[in-house]
Amino acid sequence: MEKRPFYITTPIYYPSANLHIGHTYCTVNTDALARYKRLTGYDVYFLTGADEHGQKIERKAAEKGVTPQQYVDEIVKGFHDLWQLMDISNDGFVRTTDDYHIKCVQKAFRKLYEQGDIYKSSYTGMYCTPCESFWTETQLKESGGVCPDCGRPVEEVREESYFLRVSKYAPRLIDYIREHPDFIQPASRAKEMLNNFLLPGLEDLCVSRSTFKWGVPVDFDDRHVVYVWFDAVLNYLSKLGYLSDDDAMFKRYWPADVHIVGKEIMRFHTIVWPIMLMALGLPLPKHVYGHGWLVLDGKKMGKSTGNVVDPVKLIDRYGVDAVRYFLLSEFPFGSDGNFDNATLVTRINSDLANDLGNLLSRTVAMIEKYFGGSIPGHDVQVPEEDGTIIPIALGLADRIEECMNAFHPNEAIGEIFKLVRLCNKYIDITAPWLLAKDDEKKSRLGTVLYNLAECLRIIGVCLQPYLTRTAPKLFAQLGITDPALMDFDSIRKFGAIPVGQRVEKGEALFPRIDVKKELEYLESLLPKHDEPKAEEKIEEKAEEKTGGELPELLPEISYDDFAKLDLRLAKVIACEEVKKSKKLLKCTLDMGGETRIVLSGIKHWYAPEQLIGRMVVVVANLAPKVMCGIESHGMILCASDPADEQLSALTTMAELAPGFKVR
Ligand code: MSP
Repeated sequence: MEKRPFYITTPIYYPSANLHIGHTYCTVNTDALARYKRLTGYDVYFLTGADEHGQKIERKAAEKGVTPQQYVDEIVKGFHDLWQLMDISNDGFVRTTDDYHIKCVQKAFRKLYEQGDIYKSSYTGMYCTPCESFWTETQLKESGGVCPDCGRPVEEVREESYFLRVSKYAPRLIDYIREHPDFIQPASRAKEMLNNFLLPGLEDLCVSRSTFKWGVPVDFDDRHVVYVWFDAVLNYLSKLGYLSDDDAMFKRYWPADVHIVGKEIMRFHTIVWPIMLMALGLPLPKHVYGHGWLVLDGKKMGKSTGNVVDPVKLIDRYGVDAVRYFLLSEFPFGSDGNFDNATLVTRINSDLANDLGNLLSRTVAMIEKYFGGSIPGHDVQVPEEDGTIIPIALGLADRIEECMNAFHPNEAIGEIFKLVRLCNKYIDITAPWLLAKDDEKKSRLGTVLYNLAECLRIIGVCLQPYLTRTAPKLFAQLGITDPALMDFDSIRKFGAIPVGQRVEKGEALFPRIDVKKELEYLESLLPKHDEPKAEEKIEEKAEEKTGGELPELLPEISYDDFAKLDLRLAKVIACEEVKKSKKLLKCTLDMGGETRIVLSGIKHWYAPEQLIGRMVVVVANLAPKVMCGIESHGMILCASDPADEQLSALTTMAELAPGFKVR
């Protein structure tokens, strides 16, 4: 049967500095999606690349005293090295300085000019050079005068320019977005694009520049170069040969199935790009998915601030799969996630070394010990025991498919590790070492080990898109060489691993690491917090202002739902630090008729003595929870910014008595 095409892309990265873990996060997740589609029988074309034009690159090259081309050539080499190191399986790599791309951009620009969708006029506007974006007065008012995307200062730019008739196509795009609710994902981002940009009304977009040279020249007016975003998004077509003599790839793969992009560039991908496509008379991509940012200490990683994590250092120390695992599993793809060293090392030990590594080594060791290294037959089933893993293993393919089709690799990998943990539990319940003591239970022992080996095969099949190095190692230890046993469809029935197949213990998949030592090492890699450079100061200031993106409002609830909360005023009568915890304070509260202990994760913001004697608002009917061995009876309410940099406990304007209801 002919394979169905699947075209998936990452953004093309600016070669303004080396790539960091945030870019790697985007590419690794896209890679897992691409690999998954290949595994499930699609003819995948996965494209990534470099966005090499624009004023920012021109300035950086000038600072270094090299030509822009020399500058980007050097950095783009590093992109290739990093993607190779990360096992990125891209089929194409586009550079916007490549000849085919330049020609495609020039032809598209000319076509739109000739049909009247691009026209010449003059323009004065506020421009953010790092983001290569113009901002309107209204947008700047809301952001306090700085770039709403990155928080940096904007500068006034006045030029004669070419404009794209965005306003002409906006109504069609609004209809399109409303009629295709899965075009922009997650859905919250579609709402954001409609409410913040499209519905308030779009101005025509300036798509050329004449104040610098480093760009694609407008071929009928050489004083102008094409605006870098107009140039950049066309990469998705130019690499397929659009408007060239050989457009077979374009015919096969367009429209793209999905563009995976960071949330701050959704605007270009879901407004500007679709309008360009409409004007060119082309179908729109089926989906655009906007993922969240990896933040460090609550701040977006930034090449220029230096608050970045270098993926190469992590790979050197922990291996590709540990880094891939962390990036793929730890953060819900649509939301921001905090990159935290302690979580990284704990997950390597607990999930990879303990849960997965031990499961494989224990299973193989037991097959070697009790069955001479040959996978035993399986006949004595105990439904209540085997039922804890076999149905889960059988349902795994469908669950992964659902998660991957929703662009949630983290949930898919979570499903696989659920099975890993269930298998470990299964070993505990069935206790093969006890079965081995009784000759009459040899067949049952065989069944248990067979089930484990088959589950491990299924786990190996599922892990292929995510842990590219581990899956083959796992197959090797289970003696699997037949590609049919690695096929995704082969896991829809249980029992494919052949009886009698030889297993062979190999090296541990993931060696355990010394958490304390690793944390010290990782901390030493972080930027030192000494006096920042002037440029960094500006950025930090701007970032303080934005403090991250406000979360979406939750869905509406009824008054009855609200009335279930029992909110009370309480007086802090004693407060101390919980020694074992970095975050917790233990507060003793006078609730009116009673005294109770409430733990609160606010140590970072308050010293205990600041709270004693203060009135706070408490969720009084929250189920008790034990933390660090102490039972907490409620929750103190606080307000905080999205990045959790500023926090304040709630209190009342007047001195009221403890126990009063808050409503
Ligand atoms: N060149 C444009 C994209 C053009 S696509 C036609 C660009 N380049 S970029 O290098 O600045 O960013 C590329 C991608 O990296 C964006 O999707 C951005 O969201 C992502 N990331 C950069 N830092 C990131 C994090 N800290 N976390 C997650 N992704 C981040 O924009």
